[in-house]
Amino acid sequence: MADVQLRGVRKSFGNTEILRGIDLDIQHGEFVVFVGPSGCGKSTLLRAISGLEEITSGDLLIGGQRMNHVDPSRRGIAMVFQSYALYPHMTVRENMGFALKHAGVAKDVVAQKVASAATILGLDPLMERKPKDLSGGQRQRVAIGRAIVRDPQVFLFDEPLSNLDAELRVHMRIEIARLHRELGSTIIYVTHDQVEAMTLADKIVVLRAGQVEQVGAPLELYDNPANQFVAGFIGSPSMNFLDGTVVAHQPSTSLHQGPNLCQVRLHAFADSVVSLPLDGQHLPAIGTQVTVGLRPEHFHEGGDATLPVTVDMLEHLGGETFVYARSSSNAMLVMESKNGRTLRAGDVLNARFEANKALLFDKNGQRIYCR
Ligand SMILES: Nc1ncnc2c1ncn2[C@@H]1O[C@H](COP(=O)(O)OP(=O)(O)OP(=O)(O)O)[C@@H](O)[C@H]1O
Ligand SMILES: [Mg+2]
Repeated sequence: MADVQLRGVRKSFGNTEILRGIDLDIQHGEFVVFVGPSGCGKSTLLRAISGLEEITSGDLLIGGQRMNHVDPSRRGIAMVFQSYALYPHMTVRENMGFALKHAGVAKDVVAQKVASAATILGLDPLMERKPKDLSGGQRQRVAIGRAIVRDPQVFLFDEPLSNLDAELRVHMRIEIARLHRELGSTIIYVTHDQVEAMTLADKIVVLRAGQVEQVGAPLELYDNPANQFVAGFIGSPSMNFLDGTVVAHQPSTSLHQGPNLCQVRLHAFADSVVSLPLDGQHLPAIGTQVTVGLRPEHFHEGGDATLPVTVDMLEHLGGETFVYARSSSNAMLVMESKNGRTLRAGDVLNARFEANKALLFDKNGQRIYCR
């Protein structure tokens, strides 16, 4: 186990710079998840840490040692990929022990490490089977077992569960969380799955176009995104964004030491004006173009607000319903509804939102703080 540090890490393929100066501190024993749109450089970053790709400039330290030019096999790292690529002619036991045997480790040591990994992963009854006789989840467990036997300082996972069906993914997600708890190892994990990222991570790193947009605990990123990109990327369905203009301020009175009110005209709602209570003294100036961000769970139907929406489509998930609706100016919105079962496409609702949950972004997508 070890901490991992990246200092100004850059990687180019030919003339194209893919990683554009990554600074990151990963603590010993931490579970860190990389997320970001396809092509933003997640796999490249993982491969750079593992040594499968050489970094163009910057420093990579593992356990305090500079690793830039250290051979992948000597970095104390094990990588698990989306395609588990087991040797088809070998049994589970042979697959798991192969790398150690190949490295000349004594037979009894290999046997003991394989046995211990098999127990951790619940593979004991399957040890003499060939990969073709295993389910997808079992094969992925063997691939993880192959990594465990090497006692790595750091585990790297690149979308390890994306080939599995939904039920197996949930199962393996819990297994991986348990594994992390039992081994206490440092894990760096890439996924497209919001639930995996939110539930597994101690810390999420949001990447965009080869740069880090924000690093933080899952709920910190969810509640307090630094910019519109992170706000829109974390959470499913995504946050709603409504363009507007600041039209008036109403300072809190000395009698009521509440937040200041910022009145914003929403273009999506035929210029209806909403009052947003904002903490802090420095409200955006009158006339400022802003984007109001609101999560689906902070939008409700009913109430006396004057934000009419027309229901387009309903997603019933059992306990709750996501309502996809259009505003009077045809902006798309998502609302979460607890009693959405009675709704039908074409229904017109009065939307009301929890104004104290609204976030404000400037025209460059940066968060407006009013402190
Ligand atoms: N060997 C290579 N040569 C040239 N370009 C490459 C090479 N490997 C990756 N790239 C490019 O680098 C960019 C980042 O790729 P990478 O695989 O890291 O993305 P990713 O974030 O893992 O995406 P995904 O979510 O689709 O897996 C892409 O534009 C890709 O085409
Ligand atoms: Mg990738």
